[in-house]
Amino acid sequence: MGREVDLLRAIPRTKRNIQARQEAKDPEVVRISKQYGEMYFDGPRLYGYGGYRYDGRWAPVAKDIIAHFDLKPGQRVLDVGCAKGFLVNDLLGALPGLEVFGLDLSDYALMHCHPNTVGRLHLGSADRLPFPDNSFACVISLDTVHNLPRERAKVALGEIQRISGGRAFVRVDSYRTPEQKSVFESWVLTAEFHDYPAGWLDLFAEAGYTGDYAWTIIE
Ligand SMILES: C[S@@+](CC[C@H](N)C(=O)[O-])C[C@H]1O[C@@H](n2cnc3c(N)ncnc32)[C@H](O)[C@@H]1O
Repeated sequence: MGREVDLLRAIPRTKRNIQARQEAKDPEVVRISKQYGEMYFDGPRLYGYGGYRYDGRWAPVAKDIIAHFDLKPGQRVLDVGCAKGFLVNDLLGALPGLEVFGLDLSDYALMHCHPNTVGRLHLGSADRLPFPDNSFACVISLDTVHNLPRERAKVALGEIQRISGGRAFVRVDSYRTPEQKSVFESWVLTAEFHDYPAGWLDLFAEAGYTGDYAWTIIE
């Protein structure tokens, strides 16, 4: 079975104005952000990132991923929900010869990808990964699987398992207390399925997912 590991410990915590989003969020805002287009990545903060720009923050995370999975040059790694390929770029930079690829639903993100990742990013959905069984030495998916409803999230976890053989790491939206759940629900725009860790662990088991994991918890 997989285990909980904090492979993103090197990332600085994001400041969030929960109240501002809660006041302004409405079904139209949610509809636009779920298109994963320009508004989600590079529009006002209300719709998503408020500017998704490369700042090198993934570089230490890339090193931690390489060490955790003991990756070697020539092996293949896939980032599911790679957005503009920032982690793909930093994995390429951290271990020359590592063959790093990404997949994302957003053609806007792929059309605005990091220049070093051109041609490495596939357009597709996490619940249908167009790759052979066991074709990657490692699959990473950060803050993406929760954007599918429960049944499709289960399929996505099964797909990650199928192409990685369980050498994988996913991070998904969660909360440990009713207070954290309520803060999360004020903030959330795109997640279709979210749960306490125990609920996610049930889903991992149903999907046959045996990789590692971490939770994104807003505090
Ligand atoms: C919160 S962002 C995370 C991006 C990146 N992994 C990171 O941590 O910075 C969620 C990403 O999931 C992508 N996404 C949403 N639904 C998806 C799906 N069904 N399959 C693949 N990617 C999806 C979005 O386009 C977006 O790039």
